[in-house]
Amino acid sequence: CGIVGYVGAREAAPIILQGLQRLEYRGYDSAGLAVLAQDGTLHVRRAAGKLSQLMALVAASGNGSGTPEPVRGTLGIGHTRWATHGPPSERNAHPHCSVDRQFVLVQNGIVENFLELRRRLQAEGYPFHSDTDTEVIVHLIHYHFHNGCRGDWEWAVRCALGELQGPSAIVVLNRAQPDRLIAARLGNAGGVVIGLGQEETYVASDIPAILHHTRHMVFLDNRQMAVVTRDGAHYTDLAGRPVARQAIHIDWDLATAEKGTYVHYMQKEIYEQGRSLTDTLRGRLDFEHGRVVLDSLNLSAAQVQALERVTIVACGTSYYAGLLGKHYIERLARLPVEVDYASEFRYREPVIGPGHLALAITQSGETVDTLAALEEAQAQGAFTAAIVNVVGSQAARLCDGVIYMQAGPEIGVASTKAFTASAVDLLLLAIYLGQARGLLSASAVMTLLEELSRLPGLAGELLEAAWQGSYYRELAGRFAHYQHFLYLGRGLNYPIAREGALKLKEISYIHAEGYPAGEMKHGPIALIDHQMPTMVIAPRDRVYDKMISQVEQVKARGGTVLAVAEAGDPILAEKADFLLPVPPSHELLAPILAVLPLQLFAYEVAVHRGVDVDKPRNLAKSVTVE
Ligand code: G6P
Repeated sequence: CGIVGYVGAREAAPIILQGLQRLEYRGYDSAGLAVLAQDGTLHVRRAAGKLSQLMALVAASGNGSGTPEPVRGTLGIGHTRWATHGPPSERNAHPHCSVDRQFVLVQNGIVENFLELRRRLQAEGYPFHSDTDTEVIVHLIHYHFHNGCRGDWEWAVRCALGELQGPSAIVVLNRAQPDRLIAARLGNAGGVVIGLGQEETYVASDIPAILHHTRHMVFLDNRQMAVVTRDGAHYTDLAGRPVARQAIHIDWDLATAEKGTYVHYMQKEIYEQGRSLTDTLRGRLDFEHGRVVLDSLNLSAAQVQALERVTIVACGTSYYAGLLGKHYIERLARLPVEVDYASEFRYREPVIGPGHLALAITQSGETVDTLAALEEAQAQGAFTAAIVNVVGSQAARLCDGVIYMQAGPEIGVASTKAFTASAVDLLLLAIYLGQARGLLSASAVMTLLEELSRLPGLAGELLEAAWQGSYYRELAGRFAHYQHFLYLGRGLNYPIAREGALKLKEISYIHAEGYPAGEMKHGPIALIDHQMPTMVIAPRDRVYDKMISQVEQVKARGGTVLAVAEAGDPILAEKADFLLPVPPSHELLAPILAVLPLQLFAYEVAVHRGVDVDKPRNLAKSVTVE
């Protein structure tokens, strides 16, 4: 879900709606806002469906076609929802109000003990108007305000938070105090960012929502609260003790957070990978000393020497980047690497402890399962590090070390440029570890640095050719009506097969399976016929010949083969039905280039099928619930 709040001198509604628009990728099954005027007049508007429904409702207010009063006021909060409790509907949309409409609240997260709390509040006479877990929080604030907190709402909020189990990020307003908001963070329910402006202050769950207003931002830590006024914010912990918070300057380029001339954010993010890879490599390749620079990793040479193994935890696309990272680290640094779904790791009594590196990969830095896995690893004494895109995010703050992806904001729900950035960072890390462990010669390192420096150019070349031509659109036209796809890869390209299949299913709703090519004969081969095309990823690497034999096997059973292959590969040009060309490159970099045609293919198929690519059904960009 996404949150935006505003306190200042300007009209709050347009600022909130604009911010929510930038956060629509966080969830989009319903939306709402509450705006408070100086005289205490409160306007609440909520709508099921996409944000445009709410915008229409707000626009109609006061113009004769909607509610009589316009939505006016200089303080407010807004929310876009991704349903966890109760179906998407107007009554379940945030904000939720207390019985007397004094307190109004939006929340990200989940109240795990909400049934128990609801029963208690119902017994106290509180009526419930929604199926959400969120509503208990606003009633709890009201309850504590009138029982024990003697009319002090800051304390009422603290007492209410003290009763919640599970992670929550909230923003509350109080009709009796139209000059302030309270924002708080409990656990890992996504970020709470306070944006400091000129006599105006913003609150948001994510940076892009408010980046066009201010670049000075404060990130709340777990169990912290901020009382936000137009002059800034006052920070305390949940015991009421003041805490000092430093503002961070966010230097993201505004243009990279906008769609510009592209039709979709995902399209833009695919095509800007030449540039994002340049940014990812910036400052990292030290040719003079023949080394990789990863200062913020905070891992000394002595610590690297003592490492026994690496455990990678991640979800979704980041998990597939992790599978590729395993190849890199095992090959270059000779450390055993385990890759785990973060959601499995935490419930598995994992064997981890001192001498282990627990490495999270997370674009947002806020995925709740990944954070919980990190916390578990930290509690067991492992050194924790994160490859993360969002500066100031919870993963970045939690870990002992961090490698920033430097990919710029990623808005499209289906991750693209964050995958290639993480892959590059994993390769950098593998080189770093290999070198520190004395396993890579100076010339081997130099070769890798040179190859890496060529990568953005090669990616840019491939993407430019795709942009100029219409090949992927034509290919999509031919394949968009299929119901099933098999993706095969081997070795370094097995993770790419998984990621390619994930892209297709996420945004075009076509069932696709990514499989290790060698396993095909143990199952999936039974499915192959003319109705199930196979995508093979077969650059000229050490398993190229094996991939050719897979192609033969598919063809022999009447299957259609699409092949991601080196441009001009004569064997595959003859054997496969369609080629998706990639420029020749170093074996370790080939997977990073091979994923680009798969992103383009999935994108064009989805567009052909009429899917709203940036907002595929049921998915959310950051999953801050378990
Ligand atoms: C969601 C997104 C995916 C993303 C995954 C992990 O499922 O839709 O695109 O790969 O979360 O997100 P993270 O921010 O931790 O990389």
